[in-house]
Amino acid sequence: MMRIIKAKSYQDLSRKAANIISAQVILKPNCVLGLATGSTPLGTYRQLVEWYRKDDIDFSKVTTFNLDEYVGLRPDDPQSYYSYMRQNLFDLTNLRPGSCHVPDGCAVDLAAACRDYDAAISEAGGIDLQLLGIGSNGHIAFNEPGAAFEKDTHIVSLRESTIAANSRFFPDGCVPRQAITMGIRLIMQARKILLIADGPGKRNALHRALYGPISAEIPASILQLHPDLTVICHVKEDD
Ligand code: PGA
Repeated sequence: MMRIIKAKSYQDLSRKAANIISAQVILKPNCVLGLATGSTPLGTYRQLVEWYRKDDIDFSKVTTFNLDEYVGLRPDDPQSYYSYMRQNLFDLTNLRPGSCHVPDGCAVDLAAACRDYDAAISEAGGIDLQLLGIGSNGHIAFNEPGAAFEKDTHIVSLRESTIAANSRFFPDGCVPRQAITMGIRLIMQARKILLIADGPGKRNALHRALYGPISAEIPASILQLHPDLTVICHVKEDD
């Protein structure tokens, strides 16, 4: 089942997404959340932190798994997704550090780190609610166009265009060239998926993902087959 909710503004999108996550935590205090990085979820995290500070949401029993991480960045590197999560959610709530998981991009044996991540998700009982963004080319996490649908956590080489776009964040020139990412099969196993898309730049990808043919060219199009997908979008040109 697919629900599409049109938000009036980015703030409206963020509050609606935070409401759905909050409802999940209220209904199942020990739930497993799948989390995303990027610019779109920032407002959602800000709202969740605000509600936590008002004592309206309790993360003490929640477990989280993030979608992806750069290979070669230490968790404390300011550009790592782990740092992003600490700054925007983990350190600002009562999530227990041992319950917050981000793939280990610094593992000596990356293949083993991928297997361990899959195993940790299984051991936690699987993901109850996965928060997802969408790229303007239809990617989800680091599953770019052409990615195989049947993968769990795996290593990907970043595209030259992504490396170039990221280079501004890495003045020393050490721009990550690989990432460790949940694959599409693993993402599809989440019991619920919450996809958020903001800005006219996402409009075409979102339309193709939701209404076009299911194709590896638009990785997010596989979400049409998910039994419990909620999309919150704010992609009109004029608002
Ligand atoms: P964004 O990224 O939220 O920064 O637009 C979304 C994505 O690329 O998955």
